[in-house]
Amino acid sequence: MANNEKSGPLLPSATTPASLAPAPHPGLRKKHPKIFAGLMVYILFRLGYEAHRSFYEHHDHAGATGAQACVQADVLAPVEHAPLWDTLNAKIGTSSFESSAVNWLAGAVRVPTESYDNMDSVGVDPRWEAFGPFHEYLLGAFPLVHSTLKLTKVNTYGLFYEWKGTDDSLKPLLLAAHQDVVPVDPTTVDQWTHPPYSGFFDGKRVWGRGSSDDKSGLIGILSAVETLIGAKFQPTRTIVLSFGFDEESSGYHGAGTLATHLESVYGTDSFALIVDEGSGFSEEYGSIVATPGIAEKGFLNVLVEVTAAGGHSSIPPAHTSIGILSALLVHYEQHPYHVTITRDEPIYETLQCIAQHAKNVPDKLRKTIKRSAKSKKALERLQETIRSDKVLSSLVGTTQAITLIQGGVKSNALPEQASAVVNHRIAVVSSLDEVKAHDTALLKHLGDKFNLTYSAFGTRISEEGAPSSGTLTLSDAFSGGLEPAPVTPTGRDAAPYQLLSGTIKATYNAHRSLKEADSVIVAPSMMSGNTDTRFYWNLSSHIFRYNHQNAGSSENPLGGIHTVNEFANVDSFLEQIRFFTTLILNVDETKAF
Ligand SMILES: *[C@@H]1O[C@H](CO)[C@@H](O)[C@H](O)[C@H]1NC(C)=O
Ligand SMILES: *[C@@H]1O[C@H](CO)[C@@H](O)[C@H](O)[C@H]1NC(C)=O
Repeated sequence: MANNEKSGPLLPSATTPASLAPAPHPGLRKKHPKIFAGLMVYILFRLGYEAHRSFYEHHDHAGATGAQACVQADVLAPVEHAPLWDTLNAKIGTSSFESSAVNWLAGAVRVPTESYDNMDSVGVDPRWEAFGPFHEYLLGAFPLVHSTLKLTKVNTYGLFYEWKGTDDSLKPLLLAAHQDVVPVDPTTVDQWTHPPYSGFFDGKRVWGRGSSDDKSGLIGILSAVETLIGAKFQPTRTIVLSFGFDEESSGYHGAGTLATHLESVYGTDSFALIVDEGSGFSEEYGSIVATPGIAEKGFLNVLVEVTAAGGHSSIPPAHTSIGILSALLVHYEQHPYHVTITRDEPIYETLQCIAQHAKNVPDKLRKTIKRSAKSKKALERLQETIRSDKVLSSLVGTTQAITLIQGGVKSNALPEQASAVVNHRIAVVSSLDEVKAHDTALLKHLGDKFNLTYSAFGTRISEEGAPSSGTLTLSDAFSGGLEPAPVTPTGRDAAPYQLLSGTIKATYNAHRSLKEADSVIVAPSMMSGNTDTRFYWNLSSHIFRYNHQNAGSSENPLGGIHTVNEFANVDSFLEQIRFFTTLILNVDETKAF
């Protein structure tokens, strides 16, 4: 997951949209940020509930209970491919397969593939050359993949594999992952229990940068494909693998160029579904909840620039450009965006699933969520709870954070110019235009008050001929912006979502030899940051950010993503391989799309 673009885990970056709201659970956030977006919803909702218990002391008799909400898919095990699936399940459970899986992952961790902010083009910036040895490694580790699938390298280091199906009329499956990892901070190397690129295996865990984010995803996919080919599987439906190489910095060089290439080869809306890295599953309210990401927030960095006359500071005006900018920024912070929950919101869907299916949801909370499906009053109560919780409200609403400021060159010179960047994460139900209009209106009266000629996003706002003692300009010149992702459909008739849900359940059960149908609740959720899928919108409307990682519990979480001591639990990695195997077989035999 990207440092600067994604959910929960983020560390701020100087040049790209920075991190999201701070989490009330800093320990947890640090330890397993990857699944944080999904997980925090429930944890924090629980906290929110505790803090606002009084809201639920009032009874509300309005409305129905939303009994139709979040109908769960059935467990979906392969039928035509049942014998093959059984064989592969048995194989994945053996200790010799475990050794292969450990070697595959550890070997990949041992090849450092760091990506950095602001890297120059491939061919210009020598740091990209780190990916050459990684390709060599893959070639040696997965001989069947490389002798069976067609490999095209896009922009030198982007990997596009095509496993041609026998039926060209079926839309392909696209599995995505990224090759790059977050750089290891050299000053922290001595804090690693095992060196960051050692791939050390301690009998349970593989240690090192990328072991979890996202080499477990990439190697998990290739391990599944290698194993399927070894078992003589030949797909009916084409399978495409797309592995970018700068997801942690921007994605432009990797997934950005892969997306364009894939669109030129297969066309627009040409994939049945896309599965990229994302959340996994964890225990919430006494139930196991899997949270595939069906949406991502957008972002916009608003550059606020003020100019005013310069001169010597000994004869100053009442307000310098820095003073005016300060007033504007204070005004921003005094007027945060309103958080409004609508029933179209992915998080609303997540909450409905929890209320419908999780075992230990407090009664009043459960009732409020269920009633909110029909009752406006209940929806308002839910909204109050969400507003009282910083993390939940940051997932639901548009956020703003002033992240950069600059102005002045000398202590005795009036600053002719001062500027700041306000980083926004845009609510799924909002848009770039809405945020631009909101900010433009927000500062209008201050522009007038300080007699500034005001333009915003290329349009002049202040009246022609009004007195002017300087300028105020809003723009997206700092880094552009990104619309919120289109929301992936999840209804009963959304066949890809239903297939994914059934696959998650079948995988979970198979990994534990469980028989019961309802071992896992699947609750659609969302990312507050971005994955490489931001480049894939044209390829499919069925995009999922999910890789079936076992997020464990707060006592035994995933480790070290984006920080020291990253590791992958081998049992969880084996379950990921099982997931990709099951998904490939289910997609291959479905008649639903
Ligand atoms: C703005 O211009 C008006 C009219 O020229 C003047 O009266 C006022 O003092 C100015 N305000 C500031 C803050 O410069
Ligand atoms: C998606 O398609 C639109 C319209 O053809 C195009 O402008 C845009 O660049 C494409 N997006 C990506 C990420 O390739």
